[in-house]
Amino acid sequence: MAEADLFQPMDLSALNSFGLAVNAEHYFALDRPEQISTVHAALKRQKCLLLGGGSNFLFTRDPEEPVIAMRIKGITVCEDGEDVHLHVGAGENWHNFTQYCVDRGYGGIENLSLIPGQVGTAPVQNIGAYGVEVREVITYVDAFDTQQKEMRRLKKKECGFGYRDSIFKSSQKDRFWITAVGFQLSKSAPVHTAYGAIRDQLQAEGVREPGIADVARAVIHIRKSKLPDPSELGNAGSFFKNPVLSTERSQALLNKYPNAPHYPASDGFKWAAGWMIEQAGWKGHRRDTHGVHDRQALVLVNYGGATGKEIFDLSSDIQKDVEKKFGVTLEREVNVYL
Ligand code: EPU
Repeated sequence: MAEADLFQPMDLSALNSFGLAVNAEHYFALDRPEQISTVHAALKRQKCLLLGGGSNFLFTRDPEEPVIAMRIKGITVCEDGEDVHLHVGAGENWHNFTQYCVDRGYGGIENLSLIPGQVGTAPVQNIGAYGVEVREVITYVDAFDTQQKEMRRLKKKECGFGYRDSIFKSSQKDRFWITAVGFQLSKSAPVHTAYGAIRDQLQAEGVREPGIADVARAVIHIRKSKLPDPSELGNAGSFFKNPVLSTERSQALLNKYPNAPHYPASDGFKWAAGWMIEQAGWKGHRRDTHGVHDRQALVLVNYGGATGKEIFDLSSDIQKDVEKKFGVTLEREVNVYL
């Protein structure tokens, strides 16, 4: 592999779920771990942008650094009684992986069905939905450490997982190229059905003793009814994080808005940002090419032809209004390439 041939120009519009028309001058699809040292050397200490499924990215312009798309595939399974250990390539599609597990009766990630993106980006923002976070089933993360220039296996506790957070997006951002993730699932794991929408859906279907396939089906149904499919309408899922407020601030806000959805969190209460955005009057708001989804206000959408800058400006206007109405600053969940 000659270094000069490594990187090629690439149209990224089909490689980011907002469907934004951006181009990389230097692009490389990395599909084998053996390529890593050559690619890293070819960068000659330049920064690069590591792209997974492109489902959590807002490009406001063409990326100037080389783009490396993580495409390492492969699933290895080791069954140990009821426990199932899986080693999964970072480039595997996340939803396909959840289906693979549901089909084989491996429980633990069925609540995370239909989340866009790849397996390798799941730990980065500790994806979570319907009462489950991926950190609960991750055992390790394999990555190329660009500082030490060697492969590392990070144990779960080294990953610094928090709500929509990990070291990979905070203290150690851009340091590790995740190549694979280790999971521990179970053939006898209890299903998580406490989340209201899941309970309601299973009840409506008349399912009394749900198994993991029932939960996966319910989650898929709920997501399809609320969240736009990125292949039909450009979006990156929740654009903002749900803010965690101290008990005192929550109480003060509850005096004013007693029916506001909020949930206990480790350091206070997590408030529903979608509810706040809706209360501030933004749900369904449309600016010609882009807007706020009409069934889930946390999601910003590209109706076609929007620029990332326009979507970013819309998000800033929403932030200002929510701040004015509730005194709460919403943090963006999506990675913005400014
Ligand atoms: N709500 C509104 N208006 C809205 C949206 C929500 O009033 O426009 C209210 C709902 O009625 C409900 C509460 O807010 O009472 C929570 O809504 P929902 O169950 O839709 O969940 P969420 O907190 O808005 C989070 C995740 C989603 C995940 C769902 C389900 C974050 C930032 N988002 O949304 O994740 O699917 O819970 O677990 O934590 C994603 O990250 O891309 C994503 C979709």
